[in-house]
Amino acid sequence: MSDKIKTICCIGAGYVGGPTMAVIAYKCKHLKVIVVDLNKKRIDSWNDKDLTKLPVYEPGLEDLIKKCRNKNLFFSTEVAQSISESDMIFISVNTPTKESGLGAGEASDLKYVESSARTIAEFATGHTIVVEKSTIPVKTAEVIETILNSSQKNIENKEKKSFTVLSSPEFLAEGTAINDLLNPSRVLIGGESPNAINELVEIYKNWVEERKIITTNTWSSELSKLTANAFLAQRISSINSISALCEKTGADISEVAVAVGMDYRIGQHFLKSGPGFGGSCFKKDILNLVYICKLYGLDEVANYWNQVLRINSWQQNRLTNIIVKKLFGTVSNKKIGILGFSFKANTNDTRESPAIKICSDLLIEGASLSIYDPKVQAKDIHKNLKDFISTKNDLIDLEKNVFLTSSYKDLSEGADAILILTEWEEFKRIEWIDISKKMRKPAWIFDCRDILNFNDFEESDLNIWKLGLGSKI
Ligand code: NAD
Ligand code: UGA
Repeated sequence: MSDKIKTICCIGAGYVGGPTMAVIAYKCKHLKVIVVDLNKKRIDSWNDKDLTKLPVYEPGLEDLIKKCRNKNLFFSTEVAQSISESDMIFISVNTPTKESGLGAGEASDLKYVESSARTIAEFATGHTIVVEKSTIPVKTAEVIETILNSSQKNIENKEKKSFTVLSSPEFLAEGTAINDLLNPSRVLIGGESPNAINELVEIYKNWVEERKIITTNTWSSELSKLTANAFLAQRISSINSISALCEKTGADISEVAVAVGMDYRIGQHFLKSGPGFGGSCFKKDILNLVYICKLYGLDEVANYWNQVLRINSWQQNRLTNIIVKKLFGTVSNKKIGILGFSFKANTNDTRESPAIKICSDLLIEGASLSIYDPKVQAKDIHKNLKDFISTKNDLIDLEKNVFLTSSYKDLSEGADAILILTEWEEFKRIEWIDISKKMRKPAWIFDCRDILNFNDFEESDLNIWKLGLGSKI
């Protein structure tokens, strides 16, 4: 065990910073771990006595926070003070797609990374290891290093400071973050300084087998993260493209996925067809990869990866069109129930959720929606729909047309259709006979997550449409 690192600070108390630092604090009781953020509301929620108010919902997170908070894990807005007392600093800030200027719509906006580097440069003391946790374009470590090293030049006769930058991208998935962090498939550490790499390896060795800790050069580490996300997203677009062909031919996508995935060279994971991938990262990371490829003149490579995104939007549009067509070509003044709004099960995160686009398009078509999600707050659903619809310059009265319910049972009254958009466990156990009694006939269930079984509907008078299989009337 290294005795050099005593205090770690993480800049960014989001979906990555919070859970990652909770696990480090839990597994490394000898370390003091401070998570800082400029967003006071977020820090207050991390410090809330009521653990159901944590800003991030992840199975297992509450328990870790209960065990470590205010013992060796602290959440604070005291950025400068926390940086100055830390030996190692993780940068876990958001890296969204640039909205304007050079590279708008594709390149990563590194303003938060850059401002973190500048704050570290100003307040760090002695030697500090700076770890990139955020997902960033390849070569970002060079930018961080330049900012950090130029800070030393301003120092006159003050205490000398020095920095080493490492890349250690995070591979956790939301909904399984704590398990992914406790049992990672691998930990990747890229850098040029064996001593600094070793300090970070020593931290992970507290719970991760050494053979799973990979060390590489900085650029391989940075690029591996973008590549891993691009490969995962590519599999989803691949299976979704075949789901459409299944619906035309009588093949069943779930049977095809099993048959294909049993080839060990292909593997069975990430072959679940659905309403397209959501989440804060796949889209932005592929856009970023596309941008980098273009920057280096690799247009064919850029086009190849862009196609993964095109299939994803196509899948979402395709679903809306099928729903409208099945409901006699119009959903105007029809009641549609929506089951699930988060981008996947077991998270309260709605960023880039397919539900946002599908619900907005149905509202624009004139439908009235009742939405239920077990973890997403009503205000988040409203905000997402309002923001999306305003980009289309449409004026929909959300107060009149969107109803949020506190149980799935409440959205069936008079409904013409129910859509399953997130694969929450409770939706797999719904008693459809009871639901059917309350719906207006002919009534449709659209299973956009392929979680229902046609056999469970034999006794009911509901029409079912399943993604990657088609309809049963
Ligand atoms: P997030 O938006 O949930 O959290 C980022 C936080 O950083 C925010 O709370 C913001 O206020 C804070 N912040 C920004 N600038 C700051 C500054 N200068 N000082 C202090 N705080 C600052 O983002 P996230 O989902 O946690 O993602 C963070 C990074 O990790 C991104 O690069 C993302 O691509 C990557 N990543 C995310 C996931 C995921 O599952 N969400 C998984 C792996 C990697
Ligand atoms: C993804 C990666 O899985 C993580 O390894 C990575 O660290 C993270 O992005 C990141 O960089 O942010 P996440 O977006 O949290 O994690 O969740 P996933 O499980 O990958 O799901 C992403 C989307 O794909 C969801 O909308 C999900 O429903 C969809 N999906 C996933 C499918 O449609 N089919 C599948 O088989 C798997």
